[in-house]
Amino acid sequence: MKSRRPSQPKFATRAIHAGQAPDPSTGATMTPIFQTSTYTQVGLEDHKGFEYSRTGNPTRAALEDCLASLENATYGLAFGSGMAAESAVLSLLRPGDHVIAGDDLYGGTYRLFERVLGPMGLEFSYVPARDVSAYATAIRPQTKMIWVETPTNPLLTLVDIAAVASVAREHDALLVVDNTFASPALQQPLDLGAHIVVHSTTKYLNGHSDVVGGAILTSDEKLYSEMKFYQNAAGGVPSPFDSWLVLRGVKTLAVRMRQHGENAQAIAEHLDGHPLVRKVYYPGLPDHPDHALAKQQMRGFGGMVSFAFEGTRADVDVFVRNLRVFQLAESLGGVESLCCHPATMTHGAIPKAERERRGVTETLLRLSVGIEDVSDLIADLDQALEAVSARHSKPVAEREHAGAGRGAKRR
Ligand SMILES: Cc1ncc(COP(=O)(O)O)c(C=O)c1O
Repeated sequence: MKSRRPSQPKFATRAIHAGQAPDPSTGATMTPIFQTSTYTQVGLEDHKGFEYSRTGNPTRAALEDCLASLENATYGLAFGSGMAAESAVLSLLRPGDHVIAGDDLYGGTYRLFERVLGPMGLEFSYVPARDVSAYATAIRPQTKMIWVETPTNPLLTLVDIAAVASVAREHDALLVVDNTFASPALQQPLDLGAHIVVHSTTKYLNGHSDVVGGAILTSDEKLYSEMKFYQNAAGGVPSPFDSWLVLRGVKTLAVRMRQHGENAQAIAEHLDGHPLVRKVYYPGLPDHPDHALAKQQMRGFGGMVSFAFEGTRADVDVFVRNLRVFQLAESLGGVESLCCHPATMTHGAIPKAERERRGVTETLLRLSVGIEDVSDLIADLDQALEAVSARHSKPVAEREHAGAGRGAKRR
């Protein structure tokens, strides 16, 4: 006889409902903000499952269950920032353990590796992010973890998750995927063999640039228990209000990611071939080296577009000062469009020589393409590019005077 078990609701439905049954005490349809640090207990060791809000909070629990569902994970843990979530993952390691990381990754992750955990006895090596064989070559007897972002920040390189997962399994190492750039709307790394997914929920999951948060998702009970222990012991938890904001943001993740992707594709195509643009990095462009992998591994190409200027740092400065709709700001993944200069902002923690070796140069810009009307976004980029062209057509004295020309050198 055929099983009558109902099938699991689809992604967009889970984004709205998973972990969020109506509140049993009041019937409130939306999960309440349980703004309490403590819980009244009936008698010794007799309570309703909550004792103290660092250990557990019902609003945070709803978020953890919802995010676990979206990543096809059994367990979720929410944190007060993406970095706090990363620290919890790395608490699984001990001095002497070795980590292999893809060489294009968020500057703060690099800083945590090199400036905090390196001095405490962990060892890190970096390999070209898209080169699967490089991960295998870098394995040592002490290798306990492989850490990748895909797409990477800021160069939008892809890592073949299934292939790197089999390298990790073969050597008894854990594969951790930072899924911040794609979000679970576009890829679920656990389904491809990763052991742990980590997120900065500050980004697409919350989606409105009004929360800093993080999360870990896994289906491995032992790893979950160790990281849950660390969450309570070290205490980097999100507030009930921030948990609620992320829970609310996630409800529109599916529809937001579709629009981010559509707008980003149009912008990448528009910038590609512009005389002031040397190179566009977007996995949705057919000539991106990972385009075929992106089509196979992801359900869309995402909302992040990076590009290198054909010009100087001074040209980049003129460009960003002239943007009107795009805001010059750190962070990404909100409904509004942002422009970031990784070398001086998000990746400033990486030493210059190392940063440039990785391709994060002074003329690289990273766009977090929002969900505004795309014609306004393209018009904004065009008028800022025109301001750069106009600068080049002015005589030198006037150009230096036109502002934003500090230290400007013509190519
Ligand atoms: C890919 C990636 N991972 C992790 C983080 C860290 O997250 P948070 O800023 O929420 O601590 C960031 C922040 O920009 C990021 O871009």
